[in-house]
Formats: sequence, structure tokens, C-alpha cells
Amino acid sequence: MSIYFDEEKKLFKLDTDHTSYVIGLSEEGYLGHAYYGKRLKDLGGKYLLRMEETPYTPMTNKREKSGFLDCFPMEYSTGGIGDYRESCLNVRNEQGCVGAEFFYSSHEIRKGKPKLEGLPASFGTEEEVETLRIICKDAILGLEVELMYSVFAETDVITRSVRLQNTGTETLYLDKVYSACLDMDNRDFEMVSLFGSWGRERHMQRGSVRYGKQMVSSICGKSSHQEHPFMALVTPDANQEHGEVYAMNFVYSGNFIAQAELSQFDQVRMVMGIHSEQFCWKLIPGASFQAPEAVLVYSAEGLGKMTRSFHDFYRKHLIRSPYKYKKRPVLINNWEATYFDFNTEKLLDIAREAKRCGIEMLVMDDGWFGKRNGDDSSLGDWTVNEEKITGGLPELVRKVNEIGLEFGIWFEPEMISPDSQLYREHPDWALQIQGREATQIRTQYVLDITRKEVRDYAYECVAKILRSAPISYVKWDMNRQLTDMGSYSLASDQQQELFHRYVLALYEMQERLTQEFPNLLLENCSGGGARFDPGMLYYSPQIWCTDDTDAIERLRIQEGTALVYPLSVMGAHVSDCPNHAVGRTTPFMTRGHVALAGTFGYELDITKISEEEREQIPEQVELYRKYHHLIQTGDYYRIASWSDRKPYDCWEVAAKDASEILVTYVQVLGRTNTHSRNIRLKGLDPLAQYRLEDTDEIYIGEELLNCGFLVRDVFGDFQSRLFHFIKCN
Ligand code: DGJ
Repeated sequence: MSIYFDEEKKLFKLDTDHTSYVIGLSEEGYLGHAYYGKRLKDLGGKYLLRMEETPYTPMTNKREKSGFLDCFPMEYSTGGIGDYRESCLNVRNEQGCVGAEFFYSSHEIRKGKPKLEGLPASFGTEEEVETLRIICKDAILGLEVELMYSVFAETDVITRSVRLQNTGTETLYLDKVYSACLDMDNRDFEMVSLFGSWGRERHMQRGSVRYGKQMVSSICGKSSHQEHPFMALVTPDANQEHGEVYAMNFVYSGNFIAQAELSQFDQVRMVMGIHSEQFCWKLIPGASFQAPEAVLVYSAEGLGKMTRSFHDFYRKHLIRSPYKYKKRPVLINNWEATYFDFNTEKLLDIAREAKRCGIEMLVMDDGWFGKRNGDDSSLGDWTVNEEKITGGLPELVRKVNEIGLEFGIWFEPEMISPDSQLYREHPDWALQIQGREATQIRTQYVLDITRKEVRDYAYECVAKILRSAPISYVKWDMNRQLTDMGSYSLASDQQQELFHRYVLALYEMQERLTQEFPNLLLENCSGGGARFDPGMLYYSPQIWCTDDTDAIERLRIQEGTALVYPLSVMGAHVSDCPNHAVGRTTPFMTRGHVALAGTFGYELDITKISEEEREQIPEQVELYRKYHHLIQTGDYYRIASWSDRKPYDCWEVAAKDASEILVTYVQVLGRTNTHSRNIRLKGLDPLAQYRLEDTDEIYIGEELLNCGFLVRDVFGDFQSRLFHFIKCN
């Protein structure tokens, strides 16, 4: 049992293996947040609701709302009634007034976890997860809010989501619906978040939480290159091993907000949800609205423990693909090899050489359809360009299969080029504000997939191709942000639903795809990694991490990404040098070692690289075969960080049973007159002996853990080493 309710004290206690979360009811029936942190033995903590304290303006009535509500630790805050901190829910009635106030009504505790209608969400068996549903009511509005908490004890995760049900007779407008709220006393918290840009996604940043509000968000229709639906509040001493961490991650792929607010009473409110900008949901009597899920992790052992909780949780309880623990085929993608300039012969040349090197799949990227020879046409016209692919697609797939490679293909199903047959026939299928010329980005518009006929068309285009030939893999790309948010199918008081409806439509399409093609390996992508989020992981076991394929730039990107996401989901390829994005030349071996910390593949013209580099490919493929299981299932430890001004970067993956560990070390810039580097390893059995593979060196686990391992003889810039330690007793 991980969820308890004390009828007398009116307290709920939710326990994971190492954490407790306590909710209490005020005497009026407000749902208050009492505690989240290290596991507590007993059910207590209600005093933390501070129900006896005088509010800031001296008043005889301690329950006077204006004083009380603005400092009460609310489990789910609402706007319009006297809590001036960030509200999670703003409801407008038919008179146009905003105000909502919820009181506890009932609750239910059950084993397992129900699905969230239309949304990706975590799952688990009745043994793995328990769920608490608390129903609160606003009788004036005729609105019910259902707060759902699911407790995944083993991975130390609690998920939250919110469902609203209009039980009244009036139409209500939801101007804001967040998914999670966490009120705590400040402990000099610092905020850790991920920021970026195209080609520079998910870099870590950290700074003090100041009075007022600090947030990360996206309003561009996807989780974005720039900011990420993740936030952690950490105590100042927090590092990889020590300190407290409160983290939230959002299972959603559209507009979001994650915010920390430090109030006048030194309380911190952390919230996460769909961004309220251009959001309003019309809730007619009888209708309901389901908000997406937020994943909460508390760690008393620093960021490292938080990372491993997220990794285990996503691997076990979010990714559904049959590939999640399987070896992925080592692929070669022709994007950086040819861009739009390719044909059957070129692809077959690449495939033949790839086969000789042990590569297992050819992926044909952008440019195979319509008359697309650049990025300015044909999206929407998903018929093969037979001038390039002579003999047609099934024939190409047959020939690639004959060579001994599987075949994969690129799509961008959500888009429409102004220069396309589809646009000429259906100009109204693009998202647009009537009377205003829509904005083009990468010379393309966005299809209004919220319309069923448009969605069906876009889906069928993909499915028809997949039905026509044995295609094992799809890269589903999305190369622009959303603008001109208008839909011909929505009434004027529902246009503000469009951003969210778009995401729901995308999820529906990907659900259909995974149902119809259950063995398809799907890789999501968005101009690099602009939709790298837990929502997409529910549909695809891997996501293209970034368009920056430079091994050194990737150190930072992969470090930030791996802060939350398992290595098994990070699309990572070896590309050619000088690197197309930054012009840097790095050793082929380093490129391979860095890509090994992801799904591993190649993105270069294998027929044109030097013989010396080509000869390394079979060895690299062998490394992937050897280590993929460890990398996919092991515990990830960050040992040193180049982004944190170290001259080198180092991470490790340890088998859960401590039987082996793999350490990757990258010396970014060489230095003169240096000693060997001492790195302390993790995740080992202190009493066991470990042999460093390919040497006679034997170490005792506790030595490597406490005294460290010496990295010697690394000379030059951009050099890397792999160290594999195997338990020998
Ligand atoms: C963006 C992706 O990230 C690239 O890998 C490539 O597929 C291009 N789109 C193709 O247009």
C-alpha cells in the first residue's frame, strides 16, 4: 500500500520507496499541501498547513479569505477569490466573471492507474502503481475538479493530472488549467532548467529563485528548441550526489509553462501546465476537460538520483514501443550525405557500402516526394518522385532489402507547402486567420490537423506508403512553429482551443500509426530536437536530439537531455567533418563514442569518407552491439561536465547489478604539463574486483569509488576513451 487516508486527521499520505507526499484538509475543506520530501514513517505534518497563524494584516477572523488564502499552501490553486499567487485554474462564467473555489467532496484510492483520455500518460500494473482521485466541487459554478495522483513507489515518482467536469447548467470557459502545483517553504531554492535554440537544445542553466515569478515556457505550439517542459528546484548544496531536488516534467508536446514563484512569506509555489496564452476551453454542461500529466520527482540525493528516477520511470512506465529494450538497427541516414540531391543509384551506393561496414538500415530523408529538390515545395504531396526514385518506392525498398539492409523513410505529415498540389486544391486546409496572409516558415504552412478530413488525409498519406512496401522505420519530422492560429472548423468562442486541439490531433495520428504498424520503429523529430518531450516518448522510443551533429557541441546537448531522459531515447549519429553545423573537425573515434550514448547511427556519405574512417565503422558497430544493452538499461551517472568548465566531459553507465560499467571520457581541449586525471566512478560493488577490459589491470570496487581511476595518456584536442570494467568475482 502506498496511499493512506487518515479519516480523523483528514490527511492523505502518498509514499514511494524514499519519499512521502502529504495532503491535508483545512476546516473549510480546502485541499492543502502539507509536505513533500524524504519518506516519513508516520502520518503527520498537518501543522504545516499553518491554520492557526494570523494572516499578514491583523484580523480577528483568521479565516478571512483575503488574508488566509494568499498564504495557505494550496494543493491546487484557483484564481479570483483571494490567492494572488499563481493560480492553476481560472474559470469564467457566462456573465464573464472569473472566480472558482473548490472544497473537498470525496476521494477514491485504487490499484493501477486509469488512462487519460486522448493524452499520452504513464502506466503501470496494479502491483506497480496506486492512484488517488480527489474530487473537489465548486457548487456555485457547478464544476468538479478531479485531482489524480498516481504513486510509482519503486521509481520514486508521483504523477499528477487534473480533470474538470461541468456538472452545472451554464457554459463555463476555462481560461487556464495547469496540471500541478507545489507549495513549499523556501530553502534558498535554486532553479535548474533547460534552455536552447535550434542546434543548441537543452543546455542546463541554474540560478537563484528570486522574489516574484521565474518561468520557462513555450507558446510556439510545441515543447520547443528554446525552453523545456522541465524544472527542478534544488537546495544550494545540490550537486550530482547531494542536496534536495524537486523536479517536474510535463507529458505534453505543446505550449507549456513551468514556474517558480517566491512570495512575501518566503513560500515557493511551483506550477506546471498548458500555457494560458491563447488558451481558453469552452466547457458546456456535461462536458469534461482532461489536462495532461506532470511527473514529480523528489530526490534527497542530488540531481543524479533524480535523473535515475526519471530514466527508470520513462523506460518502465511511459515508453510503449516494442523497441524500448531492443537493440535498434544501426542506421545510415542520407540527410547530411546528400541533402535533397539524391536518386536511386546514389542511395543504393550508400546502402552497399553501408552493408559492407555492418550497418543495418538505410533511411531516406527529406526530398523523395512530389518535386521536392529544396525546402520550398511539395509538402502534402506524398507520392514518390520517380525522376529521383526510378522504378518507384517498393522497387527501391526491395533493392535495399536485397543488399541486406532494412529501409526507413522520412515524413513531415503535419505540413503543407504553398507550392504543392494539395495547397492548390485545399488552401483552406492550412492554419490561417481569415483575411490575413499566413506566415511562412521554411516556406511552409501548417496543416489544420484538428479537422478530421485533413488529419485523415495526412495520416493516409503516411499509411499508404507504409502499406506499399516493407518499411521498418519512420522519421516523423516537424520543421516549424505554429502561427496564424485560426481554424475554419471552430466557432469564434473556440478558436482559443486550437493550440491544444492541434496537440491532441497529433497524438491521435501517432496513436493510429502505432496501432496500425505496431512493429514500426518510429523516431520523432522537430527541426532537430524541438519536440523532445515525454509526450512524444509515449509514441516513439527515440527522438532526434538535435541537428547539431558535432561531437563536441553534443556533449552539452546530450548532458542536458540525459538529465531527464534515458540514453536509449536520444537519436545520435556520427557525421562527416568538417562538421556541417560548426565546421569543426574531430576524430572519427570521438564521434563514435559520443553517438554511442544514444541510439547510434551514421549521417554521412559513406562512399566519400576516407578509407581510414570507413575502416573504423565495423568496429564502432561492434561496440554498439556489445554495449547497447548496458546503455539502454543501466544506471546513468554524470562524472564530470565540460559545460561546467571542466576541460573534459565524462559519464558512466553501470549495470543495475553492478556487474559492469562503461565510462566515456572526452578530453575537449588538450593541455600541456598535466597529470593523469582522477575520476571517481559510481555504481560499483565496493567489495568486488573489477578488471579493466583489454588490460590486466584489476581494481577493487571501493578503490574506484573512493580513490578514483586514473585516466592517462590522452593527448590532443577532442580525444575520447571508453573504459569498460567487468566484475570478476
Ligand atoms: C530537420 C531534421 O532535424 C533533419 O534531420 C532533416 O530530417 C531535415 N529536417 C529534413 O528537412
